[in-house]
Amino acid sequence: MRQSVMTSQLYKKGEIWSARFSEPISSLVKRYTSSVLFDTRLALIDIEGSLAHAAMLSTQGIISKDDGVAILKGMEQIRGEITRGEFEWQLDLEDVHLNIEARLTALIGDAGKKLHTGRSRNDQVATDIRLWLRGEIDKIINLIKSFRGALLDLAERHADTILPGFTHLQVAQPVTFGHHLLAYVEMFTRDTERMLDCRKRVNQLPLGAAALAGTSYPIDRWQVAKTLGFDSICTNSLDAVSDRDFAIEFTAAAALIMSHFSRLSEELVLWMSPMVSFIDLADRFCTGSSIMPQKKNPDVPELARGKAGRVNGHLVALLTLMKGQPLAYNKDNQEDKEPLIDTVDTVINTLRIFTEMIAGIIVNPSMMRSAALRGFSTATDLADYLVKKGLPFRDAHEAVSHAVRICIDEDRDLLDLNLEKLRTELPNIAHLLSDDVFDYLTLEGSVASRNHIGGTAPEQVRAAIIVARTMLST
Ligand code: ARG
Repeated sequence: MRQSVMTSQLYKKGEIWSARFSEPISSLVKRYTSSVLFDTRLALIDIEGSLAHAAMLSTQGIISKDDGVAILKGMEQIRGEITRGEFEWQLDLEDVHLNIEARLTALIGDAGKKLHTGRSRNDQVATDIRLWLRGEIDKIINLIKSFRGALLDLAERHADTILPGFTHLQVAQPVTFGHHLLAYVEMFTRDTERMLDCRKRVNQLPLGAAALAGTSYPIDRWQVAKTLGFDSICTNSLDAVSDRDFAIEFTAAAALIMSHFSRLSEELVLWMSPMVSFIDLADRFCTGSSIMPQKKNPDVPELARGKAGRVNGHLVALLTLMKGQPLAYNKDNQEDKEPLIDTVDTVINTLRIFTEMIAGIIVNPSMMRSAALRGFSTATDLADYLVKKGLPFRDAHEAVSHAVRICIDEDRDLLDLNLEKLRTELPNIAHLLSDDVFDYLTLEGSVASRNHIGGTAPEQVRAAIIVARTMLST
């Protein structure tokens, strides 16, 4: 009893280890070492973890059944206080774990003090982050699916819409807009796979590793793992408390998601420029200028492009955090939370907003078409035509370069040259040219001819959309 009173007083002072110390912790150090300003994000998950641990302690007879029930009741009350925003977080109590434990003890007395038996904050926090991240990964996977769905809907509407495809940002060959969008579906499908793969390594239970070496109590780690839905348990206690590979892997996968958004954003910004006008973004996704009344700015894609840099920064921060750490837990690891939480928030917000923005995009097929008609986008098709007539590709390439040169000099398009003119300008190959050459020079002919798996032909785009939709439902 005496001891209980002493410990409660220590909780109040926020220094549960202070018997070992001869002076109170400096207030600067308190602020510096505290994580309660950001790790409250883990609060409800921390309670889940504690309940699973307490249930196991009780089943194993390490604490009494009555203590187990008291802990459950106390935690239910705390959960209510947190969700209602009534919980009083104390900086003095350093982190989310000590805040909740102190409140539990205040509510239920000695039983609360038994919760930490056979456990350390080191395995507790590692468990919390994994549990929390697993939930966020599941949200992200679902959100990527919705985004892929929005891309597929747009691709389906534009399976036949033609725009110039670029290399080096120079007009290269005509492609269908549906095909162009399907390139992003590929990227985001890989992102889903990476998230699923990373989830396997996230979903392993560290609890039971205690501070670093395991515990002398007869714990049942599998019971805790099953209660919390972990697929497996971390098999080495030193690794269990110190490993943050899973957080790095997740952030690397998240950085790639943001990289894909950044690439798409770059295209949206370009396409929306009045000089290009391929698309317009709905007004609700744009902002005006405080000085130029005519402006409509694509702030959302621009910000997404910027936020990709922020997530890259988090990845580097986490890699650097871990690179020099000796085994096992070090306080450095507390620094994992802010980059991780911000990465999750950034990816989730970006996915949500882009899904809506893509669904509401306004496409301007005639501007796309007229751009594809400039820049000799079907020159390769003319060369391929000559190859089909028996000319070696290099010679065909040379002949078409010559024809393009003439068009540039005369300020016209390949399609404007009639058969007679073509034959006159290309005397060496005149005998290979006939009227059917113009079928190859049209934009429709060009895209339709690329009719193989992965090609830009509308038929292939439609087939690819069906496959991609099936993958969405699995
Ligand atoms: N707030 C700490 C963290 O985030 C919890 C673990 C503290 N462990 C310790 N040995 N000080 O890492």
